[in-house]
Amino acid sequence: MTILPHPDPALAVFVRSLPKAELHLHIEGTLEPELIFELARRNGIELPYPSVDALRAAYQFDSLQSFLDLYYAGAGVLIQESDFYDMTMAYLRRARHDGVVHAEIMFDPQTHTARGVSMETVFAGIARALREARAELGISGYLLLSFLRHLSEADAFSTLEQALPLREQYADLWIGIGLDSSEKGNPPEKFTRVFAHCRGLGFRLVAHAGEEGPAAYVRDALDLLQVERIDHGVRSEEDPELMRRLATDQIPLTVCPLSNLKLCVFPTMQAHNLVRLLRQGLLVTINSDDPAYFGGYVADNYLACASALGLSTADLITLAGNSIRASFLPPDQKAHWLARLPM
Ligand code: HPA
Ligand code: ZN
Repeated sequence: MTILPHPDPALAVFVRSLPKAELHLHIEGTLEPELIFELARRNGIELPYPSVDALRAAYQFDSLQSFLDLYYAGAGVLIQESDFYDMTMAYLRRARHDGVVHAEIMFDPQTHTARGVSMETVFAGIARALREARAELGISGYLLLSFLRHLSEADAFSTLEQALPLREQYADLWIGIGLDSSEKGNPPEKFTRVFAHCRGLGFRLVAHAGEEGPAAYVRDALDLLQVERIDHGVRSEEDPELMRRLATDQIPLTVCPLSNLKLCVFPTMQAHNLVRLLRQGLLVTINSDDPAYFGGYVADNYLACASALGLSTADLITLAGNSIRASFLPPDQKAHWLARLPM
């Protein structure tokens, strides 16, 4: 595990010491180039890059889609249960180093089942790592099965159908449903029926909205999909009425600053609107999204915001507290972690 030194080591130690939840994390986005190469070798897969460095050098994106193309290709090395286990365990070890005490992890089963990997294999590998990490690292985790929005609602329904027989076996982990992939042209309304069905089954609901798509997608994710939390949501700022609603109802936004920078949602970190959202009373959290692709894990995201946006120590504590408050942990566990934050 290589961890780059931060220019302010004392601040880095402080940020890592804060108990925090990571709420916006795609497990396939934690596949580091080294592990992609190792799994490709293990599974006899030829990669179109001559080396780890060449693959990492290809991580230059100008849009969400330019990233997704590489992200889905990278996930193609995941074949066996142990591949999913190794990927998840590597993330959990790294997250613990950053002070993550609880992770709500998204996974994209359609990316795997479309290649002939079974739903059972995907669940089994990820869940084994999460259960081991709970016992050995003291980090808890939940799973959010995410539908790919560039595919049809019928495909989402059939994915749900394949996963539901596993629900009882993974009841300690699989608590919710998410929506990710290409946002533009794939509005929330496309998934109204499947989200209503999932809500009826008692799942917690989240959706990506307002990353590249307009503020109207955030509103529709709330009204049509009835999600409890918005992934990204930074473009909500374009609609003052929506901003008031997000503040009044304390609907959490899982903001991913380094992701937004890498995917050109903002031109520079100094231009990021995280502080403006925070100052308007929104329940903002900081997360890493796809840390292997975007140049940093969760503490790196806190530190990048601290440097570029002038976050105070009190702001950093608020943000860590928000991550616990916005999680799906039961109230007693939220209270346990909130009591461990500095005053
Ligand atoms: N946005 C949409 N889909 C995704 C992302 C993201 O940031 N990461 C992985 N899938
Ligand atoms: Zn995301």
